[in-house]
Amino acid sequence: MVPFLNLKAQHTALEEELVAAFRRTLSSTQFVLGSEVAAFEEEFSAFSGAEFGIGVNSGTSALHLALLAAGIGSGDEVITVSCTFVATVAAIDYTGARPVFVDVDPATLNMDVAKVESAITSRTKAILPVHLHGQPADLDPLLEIARRHGLVVIEDAAQAHGAEYKGRRAGSIGDMGCFSFYPGKNLGACGEGGMVVTNNEEFAQRIRMLRDWGQERKYHHTLKGFNYRMEGIQGAVLRVKLRHLDAWTEGRRRNAVQYNALLAGSGVTIPVEVPCARHVYHVYAVRIPNRDAVQAALQTREIQTGIHYPIPVHLQQAYREFGFGAGDLPVTEKASAELLSLPMFPELEPGQVEEVCQIIRQEVARAG
Ligand SMILES: Cc1ncc(COP(=O)(O)O)c(C=O)c1O
Repeated sequence: MVPFLNLKAQHTALEEELVAAFRRTLSSTQFVLGSEVAAFEEEFSAFSGAEFGIGVNSGTSALHLALLAAGIGSGDEVITVSCTFVATVAAIDYTGARPVFVDVDPATLNMDVAKVESAITSRTKAILPVHLHGQPADLDPLLEIARRHGLVVIEDAAQAHGAEYKGRRAGSIGDMGCFSFYPGKNLGACGEGGMVVTNNEEFAQRIRMLRDWGQERKYHHTLKGFNYRMEGIQGAVLRVKLRHLDAWTEGRRRNAVQYNALLAGSGVTIPVEVPCARHVYHVYAVRIPNRDAVQAALQTREIQTGIHYPIPVHLQQAYREFGFGAGDLPVTEKASAELLSLPMFPELEPGQVEEVCQIIRQEVARAG
């Protein structure tokens, strides 16, 4: 049996530190925001190379507030991708703005920069690239386009903690970067969590108010805000885990190197790490034309896999209203039929990677 993810292994190794963090929060009773969250905001924004960090209750809330802080609302358009988790698009929809999808680059499955300029209209306010699976999108040309058209760039870095683009960390390169600390993420809370990081003080201040009912001070509601505050326990837990994140990322990268070597020449397409990026392999996804058969064969051998994501957002029933349909984003649509995410977590053992690769090679050969 090879699990897709093994959070138990991580928590067993850290149990004493985590229990101490829970105890600290119990005795301080700072269950909402508080000193652990404030310390984590400082530590994680420093880790990401940004000046400010605002802890919130999910990655979705981080995206929602970043968009609101940039003044995005009804009648506006935000350029994004459909090859992502639904939350990217949902957050745009929450503001009343319209998501405008562009296709992705066939090699990286990140936003195809060459498609962006022709998607800009007089209503466009922002570009929202996603660092899919943990590899940063090609940000420099996106920023150049954004500056020329007066647009804000918000990075969806929910899968990209510590990923790098030209030596700079994901989240700190655009105007704002949004992270998720959902338990299965590379840095995961014991519950929900998220953060916006930014070097823009004005955006930071607005987000800090918006997450806490728009208050400038207690009971003075300057903005229409939300209850999007990070919990104290999550701040305490995430501080413990952050200290291990670099080592975990190295573990993921080591596994990716082994997968790449063992799958070379097997007929599956392995993920591409572009030379200017440091991929953090939140997901290690290969592409296989007969994906469903291979996944079923792996399942019978008790090897768990995932699909990120089987239906692109523009083809989801809930998001059809934005006017995109089958055939509009061919690279995205083809990828969703072929992607298969293999077991990936820092504690995955070389023998387990070997086993997974051996079965994939057999099944691909059988089908071919
Ligand atoms: C690309 C992407 N964006 C946004 C989110 C939303 O984060 P959360 O689940 O913390 O709301 C996620 C993860 O779930 C994600 O993978």
